[in-house]
Amino acid sequence: MVYLKTPDQIEQMRPAALLISQTLGEVAKWIAPGITTRKLDTIAKEYILDNGGRPACLGYSGFPATLCIEVNETVVHGFPSGYTLREGDIIGIDTVVGVKGWMGDMCYTFPVGEVADNIMKFLRTTKESLYVGIEACKVGKRIGDISNAIQTYCEKRGYSLVREMCGHGIGRSMHEEPEVPNFGRRGCGPIIKNGMCICVEPMVNMGSKNVIIERNGWECRTRDRKPSAHYEHTLAIHDDRTEILTTFDYIEAALGDRFI
Ligand code: MF3
Ligand code: CO
Repeated sequence: MVYLKTPDQIEQMRPAALLISQTLGEVAKWIAPGITTRKLDTIAKEYILDNGGRPACLGYSGFPATLCIEVNETVVHGFPSGYTLREGDIIGIDTVVGVKGWMGDMCYTFPVGEVADNIMKFLRTTKESLYVGIEACKVGKRIGDISNAIQTYCEKRGYSLVREMCGHGIGRSMHEEPEVPNFGRRGCGPIIKNGMCICVEPMVNMGSKNVIIERNGWECRTRDRKPSAHYEHTLAIHDDRTEILTTFDYIEAALGDRFI
């Protein structure tokens, strides 16, 4: 069932969306060759707790950390670890924050130091596809219009879309209906309605779309071990416009000229 939000409930979602945006902005300051992903997790957890939030991934269905860490071929749900970031890596950071019972969900894939041009182009395209999907998200259209816009944009540029994981509704829970796939047909799927709050999150592979889930049941990587990228925003849909509740502004301020 889709929980449509009242204007007042959308107001209540804003603090979580803001805090997650600021949290990833804080983490962005630390991303560089030499830091471990576990250290990034500690920084994020402390920042969220210091600012009155709850790290919603920690303990969710047994997930062991605050951040989902997506290095290179990892698609989603990687665990923070002793891995030390290296020049040329890419790292997606995906997490969910709760504030007063409402959730905000966001992801951004960062380059670590100097990254090969073809991979930078891949990151840019994936990020653009998020905004192409958001552009297609309007009251009266269908979820498949978002899915198709993302798929078409990425496939035209030679990349592929992961099938196993989707965007989703969000509210008091991090995952609500409807599902928001990153592939599909125009004019199909649920009708987009005033008061829907959804996360759009293209998960794009540089090579083939096939993925493998590791034995721990969480970590998902590309089968061909080519890179995967992932960007995500939390949206609120109003009658006359689609509002992006999260923002990459804090991240992009922290990145300065390393801006993607
Ligand atoms: N944004 C991720 C998702 O929608 C957050 C997962 S939190 C976890 O799947 F705890 F499930 F990892
Ligand atoms: Co999500």
